[in-house]
Amino acid sequence: MIQFIAISPENLLLLLQNIYAVVIPKVLSYTLKNTFYGVIFLLFQYLKTKQARMPIFILNINNKKHTVEVAEGTSLLWVLREHLGLTGTKYSCGIAQCGACTVHVDGTPMKACVLPVDNFADGQNITTIEGLSPHSDHPVLKAWIKAQVPQCGYCQSGQIMQAVALLNENPNPTREAIKAGMNGVLCRCGTYLRIIEAIELAASTPKQES
Ligand code: FES
Ligand code: FES
Repeated sequence: MIQFIAISPENLLLLLQNIYAVVIPKVLSYTLKNTFYGVIFLLFQYLKTKQARMPIFILNINNKKHTVEVAEGTSLLWVLREHLGLTGTKYSCGIAQCGACTVHVDGTPMKACVLPVDNFADGQNITTIEGLSPHSDHPVLKAWIKAQVPQCGYCQSGQIMQAVALLNENPNPTREAIKAGMNGVLCRCGTYLRIIEAIELAASTPKQES
């Protein structure tokens, strides 16, 4: 059975006064305080996200536009390998000394490890080994296979990119011109003689263009 506690009108008034004077302000202050902290927290998160956002670059690689969001100054090699999965271009010395990372920029062989991605905002044509010959029928590739050039293979994409650029500039190079043109692209396995042989072979074959 429900029992009611008798409360006098004076006590009821006192209770209401207490609620009005103490409880309501406390609840309000608690709510406002938490709302204030909540807003500050959200603002902080927003600013953090905004700050962490990196610049966006649109790159023209192998005749296709690629959008990447990376820090300014990131090397083209890093973008190719780590962001776009184009791992045919190799990382070796990282200081423009070995040529393993050679790609073409508007047809010129360049070392991607030391090229900041910021340099390519103007839509320069970047060609990697993957884009050199989508059907693998480039005369230089065929010559490479015919001469059985690679040993471990690590340097070979850089060698091929350099060789293609050399032949584009000088379709019939002498042996000396080949040596000069390939200078700076290193092969730890010492495949240099076969590289020269393959370039001579490619030079003697009708070309299709890279
Ligand atoms: S990795 Fe770029 S030149 Fe060696
Ligand atoms: S084939 Fe091994 S480094 Fe050139």
